[in-house]
Amino acid sequence: MTHFLDIHKTAPADLRAMIDSARAMKEARNGQPKGTPDADLPLANHMVALIFEKPSTRTRVSFDVGVRQLGGQTMVLSGSDMQLGHGETIEDTARVLSRYVDMIMIRTFEEATLLELAEAATVPVINGLTNRSHPCQIMADILTFEEHRGPIAGRKVVWSGDGNNVCASFLHAAGQFGFDFTFTGPPTLDPEPEFVGFAREQGVSVQIERDPHKAVEGADLVVTDTWLSMHDSKSAQERRHNQLRPYQVNERLMAAAGPQALFMHCLPAHREEEATSAVMDGPQSVIFDEAENRLHAQKAIMRWCLGL
Ligand code: CP
Ligand code: NVA
Repeated sequence: MTHFLDIHKTAPADLRAMIDSARAMKEARNGQPKGTPDADLPLANHMVALIFEKPSTRTRVSFDVGVRQLGGQTMVLSGSDMQLGHGETIEDTARVLSRYVDMIMIRTFEEATLLELAEAATVPVINGLTNRSHPCQIMADILTFEEHRGPIAGRKVVWSGDGNNVCASFLHAAGQFGFDFTFTGPPTLDPEPEFVGFAREQGVSVQIERDPHKAVEGADLVVTDTWLSMHDSKSAQERRHNQLRPYQVNERLMAAAGPQALFMHCLPAHREEEATSAVMDGPQSVIFDEAENRLHAQKAIMRWCLGL
């Protein structure tokens, strides 16, 4: 069974093939007038379940549109409306769904839910975000970087803020795609040692630098994310804000990085908190390309999972 559970669990050659396939599909589609019927419909007669335990705009819409563009059909399910949210085991849910659908994409609170589902399912399972990672997002981000700046291998990526699930997937990607990674943020919000360790084991440099202005020097890419993720307790909000304020991505920080640096944010954003509108809407920002590229990257991921 070919699941897409995490970037560090997927072979680098497969990841590279997915990025290249996403780019080719994007170029072919965007080169056609709007409304041109797709010639290639590899997911015809395939049903894909999209399960959400938490809210989503981009993941939900981009998967739904992507499946349809490939000729398949979707059903969008809310975890709380399913028996899964009322005591049915994940294993039983996986075995039942596998009798109906050809692939499952799931966004969960706990990574364990994703892993248990994948273990019991007999159809491919895709990680649409957990508390610990967001691999589809970072595949879109790699595609976005390379469209603007060429190969990401050997470049310097700087993460400013909370060392969260999206940061974790960037560290996995650093190891698999071969780029250097610097984290800047308060020590209490460092990425987990396991994620840092994975990247270092692949031979790339991972630095932790508490001074954000020093951290971004010579960066090819500066990335941030919300200061409070969906799995974080609301009670942490005020403390987080005080700790993270020095790590806001604003024009001063982008100036310290230099004009070569791109800016990314997976969205949704809290404008004027983790990043200012001047940066988000400024010349270095590629945030809406990232959002668009979720569609193209995930089409490549789904084709890879199904071998189509
Ligand atoms: N970036 C991202 O995953 O956005 P959604 O939460 O809207 O899906
Ligand atoms: N870190 C954020 C990403 C949202 C797409 C969260 O998990 O809520």
